[in-house]
Amino acid sequence: MTTAYAHGKVILFGEHAVVYGQPAIAVPVTEVQAQATIEDAPPGQGIRIVAQDLGRDYLLRDAPPDDPLRVTVTNTLRRLRQPLEQDLTITVSSTIPIACGLGSGAAVATAVARALVQHLDCWLAARAISDIVFETEKLHHGTPSGIDNTVIAFEKPVYFVRDQTLEIFWVRRPFLLVIADTGIASPTKIAVGDVRRAWQADPVKYEEIFDEIGTLTVMARRAIESGESEALGRLMDANQRLLRLLNVSSPELESLIAAAKQGGALGAKLSGGGRGGNIIALVTPQTCDQVSMMLKLAGAKNVIVTEVH
Ligand code: MEV
Repeated sequence: MTTAYAHGKVILFGEHAVVYGQPAIAVPVTEVQAQATIEDAPPGQGIRIVAQDLGRDYLLRDAPPDDPLRVTVTNTLRRLRQPLEQDLTITVSSTIPIACGLGSGAAVATAVARALVQHLDCWLAARAISDIVFETEKLHHGTPSGIDNTVIAFEKPVYFVRDQTLEIFWVRRPFLLVIADTGIASPTKIAVGDVRRAWQADPVKYEEIFDEIGTLTVMARRAIESGESEALGRLMDANQRLLRLLNVSSPELESLIAAAKQGGALGAKLSGGGRGGNIIALVTPQTCDQVSMMLKLAGAKNVIVTEVH
């Protein structure tokens, strides 16, 4: 029996603009994870998927060709040059809430790819796993930038420019983030599609916003590399103002952001596709409890504290 894991992630800066070639920064969230366990099965069974959280149990050969786990398993086996017909039971579970910006789909696919690689006594570099999961991400998100699969496969803070740059960078002083969930599931695909339509209708206006977000992301990387938390907080607030202009915020996200700021957060913004899902707030060890409490009082369905290092 083989078990592999993959952590969640949050986007710190640059969501949406990253789809249009601007840089973005994302970090792993080790407090939540997906798990995949593989066992050899009786000959002739084929590949069986047991997705505990979703209450699903099915044979891969009966799944539609665009089933995300079918695509993940097939692409991993192809990449490993292993037969596509195997007798295996793959059980997946996850503590990452679905459709809330923490990368649940990419993490489940990463855990499955990693488990297959280990179970078949093979080896694949993080970049190859990331590439496999990118294909699965296309099913979830339509036109993903690739940042989610990248940060989850590399398990480090990443500075990412679509099809160009992947840099794992240095965090000079570890910092704390409070992640708070609106409880509203919001598929990334929908927000990304809406931004695309708005950009098509008024490319000049939207490209200006994307450029500004890109500039903030470059400044944020410098602030993280030089350990300037207060500057980082201000940049998060500025990024949130631009996300509002992209129309991906919502009253629920705004009320959590206001609560975090009232509690003393240095900065706060939505993270991921927006509309629902999570906000992130930059806090110090002194303000962490107060901000977490304010977020719960403001209706956050779940609050996670993570250290970025
Ligand atoms: C989703 O986590 C981040 C978005 O920028 C979409 C993407 O990068 O593919 C909204």
